[in-house]
Amino acid sequence: MASKPDPVLRETPVDELKPAAARSELKSLAAEILEHDRRYYSEDAPDVTDAQYDVLRRRNAQIEARFPQLKRKDSPSDRIGAPPLAAFATVRHAVPMLSLGNVFTDDDVEAFCDRIRRFLGLEADEELAIAVEPKIDGLSATLRYEDGIFTLGATRGDGAQGENITQNLKTIKTIPQHVEAEDFPPVFEVRGEVFMSHDDFKALNQAQATNGKPEFANPRNAAAGSLRQLDASITASRPLGFFAYAWGETASLPVGNQNEMIAAFKRWGFPVNPLFKVCTRVADMLAVYSEIEARRASLGYDIDGVVYKVDRLDWQNRLGFRSRQPRWAVAHKFPAEQATTVLEDIEIQVGRTGALTPVARLKPVTVGGVVVSNASLHNEDYIKGIGGDGLPLREGRDIRKGDWVIVQRAGDVIPQIVDVVIGKRPGHAKPFSFPTKCPECGSQAVRELDEKSGKTDAVRRCTGGLFCPAQAVERLKHFVGRNTFDIEGLGTKQVEAFFAEGLVRTPADIFTLEARNASFDPPIASHEGWGATSEAKLFAAIRTRRHIGLDRFINALGIRHVGEGTARLLARTYGDIDSFYQAGRALGVGDEAARAEMEAIDGIGPAVVEALGDFFGEAHNAQILAALLEQIEVAPVEAAATTTPVSGKTVVFTGTLEKMSRAEAKARAEALGAKVSGSVSVKTDIVIAGPGAGSKRAKAEELGVEVLNEDDWLALIGQN
Ligand code: IVH
Repeated sequence: MASKPDPVLRETPVDELKPAAARSELKSLAAEILEHDRRYYSEDAPDVTDAQYDVLRRRNAQIEARFPQLKRKDSPSDRIGAPPLAAFATVRHAVPMLSLGNVFTDDDVEAFCDRIRRFLGLEADEELAIAVEPKIDGLSATLRYEDGIFTLGATRGDGAQGENITQNLKTIKTIPQHVEAEDFPPVFEVRGEVFMSHDDFKALNQAQATNGKPEFANPRNAAAGSLRQLDASITASRPLGFFAYAWGETASLPVGNQNEMIAAFKRWGFPVNPLFKVCTRVADMLAVYSEIEARRASLGYDIDGVVYKVDRLDWQNRLGFRSRQPRWAVAHKFPAEQATTVLEDIEIQVGRTGALTPVARLKPVTVGGVVVSNASLHNEDYIKGIGGDGLPLREGRDIRKGDWVIVQRAGDVIPQIVDVVIGKRPGHAKPFSFPTKCPECGSQAVRELDEKSGKTDAVRRCTGGLFCPAQAVERLKHFVGRNTFDIEGLGTKQVEAFFAEGLVRTPADIFTLEARNASFDPPIASHEGWGATSEAKLFAAIRTRRHIGLDRFINALGIRHVGEGTARLLARTYGDIDSFYQAGRALGVGDEAARAEMEAIDGIGPAVVEALGDFFGEAHNAQILAALLEQIEVAPVEAAATTTPVSGKTVVFTGTLEKMSRAEAKARAEALGAKVSGSVSVKTDIVIAGPGAGSKRAKAEELGVEVLNEDDWLALIGQN
């Protein structure tokens, strides 16, 4: 304990922490609390008192409350109750879980059958029945039943021993918890494959993306990641499937061949694959192989080949095993859906949200039966040879124009470049230099810093927003939307039509529409879906919106990270368009004082400040704004409806509030017309100081600013 920093001593009051310091403190708190948890739960040897431990947890919670955007994925606040297991327990398989040998060609399949015939000494006219079924691309698992009750589930592991994942397997809905059948052996191990369907995989990845978590590269990884969760409740939330196709330890078997076993599995309530077939000739086996391959893309789950198994179980026994592989079964893999071709060009597409996405233009090539001439290159880092989470690139080599590249198609996924044939790289091929200006509009394209992870975003984005033709339609739709300009009669459809016809390209165009209408051929009233009345109504609606509140106006600009709430906060802080515009322009030219001032606003994080700087730093946006401001009038933020003892006053909360949360106190103050700021200056009218207030209180006293305690404050606003 002596070598560690005193965990109780955290000097800076929480409300004075800067984001960077808060981030690093949350990190060290997470590590420290985790270590205390480990000592407490796993070693029964805590080295701090409960009270000291509580101080750490409380401080962590307070910092998170003040900087919710900095909350870590591994935040201790999300870890409650019993600690997660350190690892799964090991299970020794009563009967080893084997792997399969592979065959690739028709001749190999023929040779497999011949070998079996020779081994068993079969006559030429004796029938050799072979079961054929898809090889599921998932994870194998074994499920042990004792007296019909599911008692133990495990992964394959190294074949001899795996991991005990009983609780996780129990969450798979199609796996029976108990089996009540006369012919179900008293001890029986069902073996099969756990997998995730394509639909569920897509939905999971979408959810991962929405929650800022890494996406899975393919359904198999997703299934593996889901199954190997120490917390089974996470597994339960992931939709997994199971197909039974084999068995392990058993006292006896009720039937004599593979296909009857599959039928028995089905009767006992286990899911089995419907494509199972029995063949008696090599030609039929190959026909089933082709049939299954043809259905591969439409099955809804990944398979990577078929498995052939000798149908008779007595013959399986006689054939036995050789070096961990059965002689009685083999996998016939599908050819990889890959091909090699030349990368002719790299084009940059700009998405509707401003993301710059590189696309590979390829010399057309057939991959898995489909001609491919474009492939995704994902992002700037990918071209540099940095694959990143879930992406299939072979790491470490950059991708250049003129390269021979390996293209992969998997299921219905967009083709991707997975590798470069370095040996064939033309001498003149140069590293690709990714544009830092938007190819559509010339605006700066930037990579943001992710506040949470501290990493630079893999995506480069155009900052030209309203100006960029690739983004303009989306931005205009936002501009006229309900929470922004709310122009009746100008919805998504109309914006798209006007944009396509060139009538409205920028926000200012909306307000000049009426004046220009006479020169349109034909005027709006004669457009499809329009008439004189709807035209007149539209113009009237637009006219009423020439007057707009500052908060709606700021929200309408569609600046990244500036939504309704942030817009309101900015509007209240700056009060009128001129102050806001000046602050924005100052940020845009990199004025440090402007940045510091904005970062001091309670509720404005660095991402917002960065985005505002990018927006105002872009000359195109300034032009668009200037043109718009010529057309409209932005109303300053109105003073609160009735005057209150604090309306118009700037207040600062510091220290701990005991009667309500900081958020509530702030909301109440704002509802009464006060401005809440995060730092004390000569502009501050009142500082409300609770216990633990530090330098802000001192500063207020130094500046002669009125300091109230929480009760005085509540009395002042009449809420005690
Ligand atoms: S039979 C003793 N049948 O493939 C033979 N395996 O490469 C046991 N697999 O570890 C395996 N689908 O995870 C069999 N229909 C199927 C299969 C299948 C997928 C997997 C299984 C095994 C691996 C061997």
